[in-house]
Amino acid sequence: MKHTEIAHILQTEPTINELTIRGWVRSFRSNRFIAVNDGSTIKNLQCVLDFENFDQDLLKDITTGACLEITGELVKSQGQGQAVEVQVSSINILGTADPEQVKRTILSPKRHSLEKLREQAHLRVRTNTFGAVMRLRSKLSFAVHEYFQKNGFNYMHTPIITGSDAEGAGEMFRVSALDPKNPPLDDKGDVNYKEDFFAKETNLTVSGQLEAETFAMGLGKVYTFGPTFRAENSNTSRHLAEFWMIEPEVAFNDLADNMDLAEDFIKYVITYVLENCQDDLLFLEQRLIQEDKSKPAAQRQEMTLREKLHFVVDNNFKRVSYTEAIDILKNCKPNKKKKFKYLIDQWGADLQSEHERFLVEKHFKCPVILFDYPATIKAFYMRLNEDQKTVRAMDVLFPGIGEIVGGSQREERYDVLKQKMKAMDISEEELYWYLDLRKFGTCTHSGFGLGFERLVLFVTGMGNIRDVIPYPRTPGNAEF
Ligand code: 4AD
Ligand code: MG
Repeated sequence: MKHTEIAHILQTEPTINELTIRGWVRSFRSNRFIAVNDGSTIKNLQCVLDFENFDQDLLKDITTGACLEITGELVKSQGQGQAVEVQVSSINILGTADPEQVKRTILSPKRHSLEKLREQAHLRVRTNTFGAVMRLRSKLSFAVHEYFQKNGFNYMHTPIITGSDAEGAGEMFRVSALDPKNPPLDDKGDVNYKEDFFAKETNLTVSGQLEAETFAMGLGKVYTFGPTFRAENSNTSRHLAEFWMIEPEVAFNDLADNMDLAEDFIKYVITYVLENCQDDLLFLEQRLIQEDKSKPAAQRQEMTLREKLHFVVDNNFKRVSYTEAIDILKNCKPNKKKKFKYLIDQWGADLQSEHERFLVEKHFKCPVILFDYPATIKAFYMRLNEDQKTVRAMDVLFPGIGEIVGGSQREERYDVLKQKMKAMDISEEELYWYLDLRKFGTCTHSGFGLGFERLVLFVTGMGNIRDVIPYPRTPGNAEF
């Protein structure tokens, strides 16, 4: 039998036609009003029944968390708070939920902390906050594909299991089918991966960039959007061990083109959700306003969530070289007063999130694109500048987030790349295919990676990256 989704019902004029809905009970008041949510919208549908017409046993099963099928007529609501409601004619209990047990879960109708929600992650999608975040996440994914497809990019699926370390940072999860208790050993007594499934050492990918570069050198414009894995022991509100990354790679783009692409892309997807996810954004905005009320005035947000999103869409990102940024940071108050955990004393220092956030939130007060970083603190594949000490790298920094995008113009010169790989101890044997690109019709090209969860964090105003992905993987946690 067909049922109608609540999101659809709320957009239509009340008619006298009978309709059927299916969803989960959020609350049941006065033996009369059932608030039902089916996930299609943040809004519940109020269903009104005359308890005299229903069996007592059936009424007992209408409890928070239970799953129901309700048939009735959609009518103009007599109460406040909703335009329409369903006058119930029949109820079918699809799945009961024992109130005694519900009381001990996050389904019980009271405020639960986000930490508590994480502990019951299999149920949290039935809360308003997490439901709103997940609907926005889905819409953002769609907008990502729409942007690239509209602009002539080819979606490519880069491998998840790889034999190379794209970032050269050694933060990888090994993939092996060997018996951990009794692995085959080589002459030196080391594990012999030649006898492993792939006859070599393999890992979960940290980035699809290198493979995306191979495709850009044939298809011109490509992008990947897939899971990436990092075994870095960063237990922060911005890091996951498994996260989703969007990586465009474009032949003939230089660094300025790459910045234009990143800015245009981010503005497009944010505009998309502003136009298509108003109910969920409004809910999350109100949530932040409530949260702010319990904070001291100085810590409250200057802008509402939607004002913040509009601000990003309506203003140019400020483009600043690393060298300029270092000058600003060296002379800024928190550095002079030793308020930073890592003090900036010389050119060449790696920037920490506290420095990035100072530049964005306190100094420029808008998204910033930092470029031309020291070669020593960036990956091997970035193009060396004429000065021989900086590379054509760019990071996009966002308020409240810090780095949201990392990218670069790639080193397309065979000799220079080979030399750099040698200096940085990157195996030429392993990456012969990557070097080949520079031998057969090389050209200027650029790309970047945007951490999808950091984008979702920004758009939803959530504070912890664990709350914007269905099942977070972090050091010490791979539950569910
Ligand atoms: O700066 P990263 O390491 O750059 C790369 O991986 C390049 N290969 C991308 C490219 O040029 N194609 O990572 C890119 C972005 C970061 O800016 C950040 O947003 C996100 O990925 N990111 C993480 N997000 C969540 N958890 C982590 N552990 C992350 N590490 C990076
Ligand atoms: Mg980076």
